[in-house]
Amino acid sequence: LAEKSKEEIGPDMLSKWTAVPSSDPLRMSDNELIVNVSTVLFAGFDTTSIALRAIIYFLCKNPSSMSILVDEVDSATRGGFLGNPVSYREAHPHLAYLNAVIKEALRMHSPVGLSLERHVPDGGVTISGHQIPANTIVGINPWVLHYDSKVFPEPDSFLPERWLSKDSKKLAEMEKSFFAFGAGSRYCIGRNVAMMEMTKLIPQLLREYDVRLADPKKEWETRNFWFVQQSGVECILTKR
Ligand code: HEM
Repeated sequence: LAEKSKEEIGPDMLSKWTAVPSSDPLRMSDNELIVNVSTVLFAGFDTTSIALRAIIYFLCKNPSSMSILVDEVDSATRGGFLGNPVSYREAHPHLAYLNAVIKEALRMHSPVGLSLERHVPDGGVTISGHQIPANTIVGINPWVLHYDSKVFPEPDSFLPERWLSKDSKKLAEMEKSFFAFGAGSRYCIGRNVAMMEMTKLIPQLLREYDVRLADPKKEWETRNFWFVQQSGVECILTKR
């Protein structure tokens, strides 16, 4: 596969932001630029790296899923559907199993692990038959929703196939309970960036390397302080 030149890949986010004032002098002051860069770093850096670590860990712990995904990536590459580097536009329509793997890893290990809080507005609300007065803080932790066995049977098992179900009612129910990026007015604004990053990086990595855990029996350790950080995931990468 031919390497793409910098011109073919196009400008990165920072170059695009710094170019804004040339077409619209009132936008993207240095201050706005700093706010945008720090938002991407603070909100998008740990979250996405936790998600990527979870994807790799669950794939290594579930060799049959790893093998289905590697086959999918290899066959899309052989079919000429994936360039180098893999682009989101190419990967998204041709790597359905990858998308299911990402969703399942985010379900089992939501990078955010505490309640996403909301203030009840004037007039109060009724939630699940309970009348909640105005100004109460309500919230739910994504992990609670994601491990609800009524929606996700066998919640402790890594089953990407569940996201490929043909049952549209079941899928809609799962989507409604998928809370890794939150929901509603504060829904993660970086979710498409994160999905793009993961959808590009995982196939690129698996196409070039066999990835396995240094100690396949060892479990990772996790620590929850809003972000659920993992440690102890040591992998051996062998060039394919
Ligand atoms: C896998 C990666 C990511 C996960 C799991 C994630 C998760 C979340 C969650 C749970 C929220 C709160 C949503 C709510 O309260 O309903 C949030 C908000 C936010 N995220 Fe992400 N995020 C990710 C990547 C990113 C990236 C890459 C960016 C930036 C490029 C980003 C920027 C933001 C911002 C600015 C907010 C605040 C939105 C608001 O309050 O209006 N996130 N994210």
